[in-house]
Amino acid sequence: MYKTCSSEPVRLNRMQKPVNLSEALASFSQIYSPRIVARVNDYDVRIAHTRGEHVWHVHDDTDEFFLALDGQFDIALRDAGGNQHTVTLRVGDVFVVPKGTEHKPSSPGGAILMFEPTGTATTGDHHDGAIPDHVHSTTGQELT
Ligand code: NI
Repeated sequence: MYKTCSSEPVRLNRMQKPVNLSEALASFSQIYSPRIVARVNDYDVRIAHTRGEHVWHVHDDTDEFFLALDGQFDIALRDAGGNQHTVTLRVGDVFVVPKGTEHKPSSPGGAILMFEPTGTATTGDHHDGAIPDHVHSTTGQELT
């Protein structure tokens, strides 16, 4: 049985128009400073330019999904015993960093798409040492 439509009017906003990822990436140049291109329930779809070393960090409560859109994106992973390995994402590759896993992105240059709960900080719940100047600690900014 179908529920009747509520009388609440649906408000349209710019997020309900298509967003072209190439155009969105071209609209800003700051690296490691994600822009939110869409929202899915309580998740953000974010894009970012990548270059250089990020910072070791961990998200205690969420997995983090990455899709390489351009260039190359490397993710160093470290387990509780301190063992490290690095995965390399090339254009079209996806990878999920499991929650609670220490990771440090780096890139010779490129762009990524991320899918993670709204409010997830780029530098995690904890991070090692100082945040480099070229890494923006943020929960994502709107596209402007
Ligand atoms: Ni992360």
